[in-house]
Amino acid sequence: MLRLLTAGESHGPALIAILEGLPAGLEITQADIDKELQRRRRGHGRGARMAIESDRVRIVSGVRHGKTLGSPVTLMIENRDHQNWLGIMDPELPGEGKEIRRPRPGHADLAGGMKYNHRDFRNVLERSSARETAARVSAGAICRKFLGMFGIRIYSQVVSIGEVVSPTRGQKLTPELHRRADASPVRCPDEQASARMVEAVDRAGKEGESLGGSFEVAADNVPPGLGSYVQFDRRLDSRLAAALMGVPAIKAVEIGEGIEAAAQPGSFVHDQIRYSAADGIFREQNTAGGIEGGVSNGEQVVMRAYMKPIPTLYRPLTSVDIESWQEEKADIERSDTCAVPAASVVGEAVISLVLANELLIKLGGDSVDEVIGNYRNYEGYLKKVWKWKRTLY
Ligand SMILES: Cc1cc2nc3c(=O)[nH]c(=O)nc-3n(C[C@H](O)[C@H](O)[C@H](O)COP(=O)(O)O)c2cc1C
Repeated sequence: MLRLLTAGESHGPALIAILEGLPAGLEITQADIDKELQRRRRGHGRGARMAIESDRVRIVSGVRHGKTLGSPVTLMIENRDHQNWLGIMDPELPGEGKEIRRPRPGHADLAGGMKYNHRDFRNVLERSSARETAARVSAGAICRKFLGMFGIRIYSQVVSIGEVVSPTRGQKLTPELHRRADASPVRCPDEQASARMVEAVDRAGKEGESLGGSFEVAADNVPPGLGSYVQFDRRLDSRLAAALMGVPAIKAVEIGEGIEAAAQPGSFVHDQIRYSAADGIFREQNTAGGIEGGVSNGEQVVMRAYMKPIPTLYRPLTSVDIESWQEEKADIERSDTCAVPAASVVGEAVISLVLANELLIKLGGDSVDEVIGNYRNYEGYLKKVWKWKRTLY
């Protein structure tokens, strides 16, 4: 239903996102999108680039007088840094400088150069850079607004950076935990762990090192019935995992307590199905992360994503100069020391995109009013047939 295409180079004039398939009549403002872009820019451990970029969106199409039209929404985020790269990034005239000849281990440089026959790895770096995630965050902000109309809220927290693990890891994500995460310089809601994470990032920065970590993303009030078990590629868990895996540097994704579950007996792991007249069907635990058989079951949808350390190192690793074929230190591009806090915001955005798509698949509708009507109808069915007690809309 929803299609997203992004374009733009890291130091080009702008990033573009085109989002098609949104129903008409969804209220959206530039401020809704800018708010998410600002959250993505923050985080202790970000490099100088984020101080240059103000990241404001321009809505170029698909929205009129504050509401979506049903036509493709085009979003543009100008790269302010482009002014310093005019010659280097010129689409026609040849320009010199900033070539990358010694590919950076852990980046797309070498593999991408081999694939596209680029001998200046800048041609790879410019698009493989995680700067692109600003475009995904801007489109995700619209989806988040759409989901909010149905009471679906997206939360996240950073649960580890390097070896520092937060005691909030595995705790149910609540609005309060999410708010505390946003107040922390590393998006970790626990004050002591947050302070230790900041120290770890500072230490790594001084040593020319970088750090990775992990974060949790959750979605509250997801109705049962999103995704499907009938075909492998319609499973909600596979789509969510693919979306999180699609964020640069994310190297593992867990649904619920997926990793720990592998080591536990079944009687511990599976969330027993209970019933009370007051609550209807309910669960006491949510090890499954709100998804069974690839279908949302009405519990909170919970995922954990693991990010590798930033590959660009100020104390670079060994690489090869592809002109001289001598082993030399890898090139350096201005870089973050740790971007787990920013990645958690990107994680929220990509999850919003998947869930908005799934909601539209489930309900259909070309205008927001039509989708809401379909939602009420579905809710009525759940209440009548399944003794569903929660008010979805
Ligand atoms: C929000 C965010 C910011 C990032 N910032 C940097 C950075 O400043 N320097 C860097 O080398 N890698 C950064 N990365 C990671 C690289 O983009 C990523 O590791 C690289 O493109 C290779 O892709 P892969 O790790 O998925 O294989 C960032 C990733 C994210 C999600």
